[in-house]
Amino acid sequence: MVNATAQYYQWIEREIAKGKYGKSPESLYEPIRYIMGIGGKRLRPMLTLYGYSLFKDNVKDIVKYAVAVEAFHNFTLMHDDIMDKAPLRRGQPTVHKKWNVNTAILSGDVMLVKVYDMFLSLDPLLLPKVLSAFNRCASEVCEGQQWDMEFEQKQKVSEADYINMIRLKTSVLIGFSLELGGILAGASESDCRALRTFGTNIGIGFQLQDDYLDAYADPLKFGKQVGGDIIANKKTFLLIKALEKATGKNKRELSEWLTASRFRKEEKVNAVKTIFDRLGIAILTERKTNQYFKKGFGDLDRLSCDQTKTQELRAFAEKLISRQT
Ligand code: IPE
Ligand code: IPE
Ligand code: MG
Ligand code: MG
Ligand code: MG
Repeated sequence: MVNATAQYYQWIEREIAKGKYGKSPESLYEPIRYIMGIGGKRLRPMLTLYGYSLFKDNVKDIVKYAVAVEAFHNFTLMHDDIMDKAPLRRGQPTVHKKWNVNTAILSGDVMLVKVYDMFLSLDPLLLPKVLSAFNRCASEVCEGQQWDMEFEQKQKVSEADYINMIRLKTSVLIGFSLELGGILAGASESDCRALRTFGTNIGIGFQLQDDYLDAYADPLKFGKQVGGDIIANKKTFLLIKALEKATGKNKRELSEWLTASRFRKEEKVNAVKTIFDRLGIAILTERKTNQYFKKGFGDLDRLSCDQTKTQELRAFAEKLISRQT
């Protein structure tokens, strides 16, 4: 007997492998099969299945809706990689690098349409509820992405504005993934809300960790370009704290790197990381990350289901804190 985590993962991979998105033109649909097929943690669909399993046992029946969430996530990545000028995703060239920007825009667009197709077979009694939660989440992701881009050009961003930006771009989808499990299982409003809040809080922790890894991950394991956020002047938690804390030489150097128009990428990344190191930024990020994960686990205590059922979900979420990719 395999444990639930391994079983869920296998179901998700099998469902993804079945993926029929369309055939012609091949150059429109191949990038979808490509991005869906190059791996990833499958975090969001796993959370949907866990959310459902707290209230109902026939988890396999909802795998296709969990995969719809993964498809939406991959659509956001296809466009995000254009916006972030990212060369690598999951250790492979990004879609706009392997094909071109126009292809990545259009394949992403049709991918979003396919997500709606996937939801279309839902029980008509559940469909409006699912779509209204999904649409709210999807609009918020765009809002967060727009803030993220605008903040690149701003000199100063407050911690509160940053947390709101990552809540929108990343954590509402993690919240929705869990909430969807609850909705599909017919859980009460308050249980669905607790699942969503849990996801939103660990989602904020997850993005804080993503910011940390973008600077400090092992390039061989990470699968994305290390230092991309530093190159783009992204207002990550790390940079925001560094801007708050830096004085004297650190402040001068940081400001020079942020305004430099011509630089060697590697040199900028190393120099900014050295400033982060001098200011003790990594530990501040770790503390903040843990704070949000802890808050999330508190939300799980409020669920009305048998608490022993939450154990595997808790263990799964705890492993995310020490992830390296
Ligand atoms: C990347 O998400 C985008 C963020 C919101 C940080 P993941 O870290 O879940 O990426 P994959 O799907 O595992 O590749
Ligand atoms: C991504 O944030 C959020 C969305 C894709 C909506 P990032 O830009 O930090 O994600 P990565 O680091 O490219 O995976
Ligand atoms: Mg981005
Ligand atoms: Mg990105
Ligand atoms: Mg990132």
